Amino acid sequence: MDFNTVHTLISEEELYQRIKELGEQISRDYEGKVVHLVGILKGSVFFLCELAKHITCQVTMDFMSVSSYQNATKSSGVVRLVKDLDEPLEGKDVLVVEDIIDSGHTLSYLLELLGRRNPNSLKLSTLLDKPDRRVVENVNVDYVGFVIPDEFVVGFGLDFQQEYRNLPYIGYFKADEEQAE
Ligand code: IMP
Ligand code: MG
Repeated sequence: MDFNTVHTLISEEELYQRIKELGEQISRDYEGKVVHLVGILKGSVFFLCELAKHITCQVTMDFMSVSSYQNATKSSGVVRLVKDLDEPLEGKDVLVVEDIIDSGHTLSYLLELLGRRNPNSLKLSTLLDKPDRRVVENVNVDYVGFVIPDEFVVGFGLDFQQEYRNLPYIGYFKADEEQAE
């Protein structure tokens, strides 16, 4: 698959506009506080950078990496901590920044793990939400960029086998493209 087979789902302009709105909303909600952004590597990086630019409160940031055993144990939803945060969360107003919520296993795991570290508050944000695929129902996401259909998407940080993260827009592959041509 190359870049030509990727179709645009959300354009660069739409992404920037919506992320700006989210930044403004977060600035209102956290007025007078320091927002501690926790980015989930690597997919959230583009979203986090753009979002942080539109937050007018003080911002600090930290990063962590998790991985889910998707193929081997598809339905078990086991999530593994690959890289932990550098700093404690005690007393901080934490906003988790994710690229996409799919089954919900990752955010549900993070909510529990980070909640145990006594933050002052803990909220979740995601650029994309695929509600049709949700398995874990008790994950409440506070800030959602876009609700999307059940398509595998790439770009703006999201990958397919580690590639396509650098596409400046959100795209999807048309599965039957080759047969159609
Ligand atoms: P969940 O644990 O099933 O909610 O999955 C969340 C993670 O799966 C995300 O952080 C992504 O890394 C990955 N993921 C889910 N859907 C997609 C997609 O359409 N494209 C790229 N990565 C995806
Ligand atoms: Mg991810």
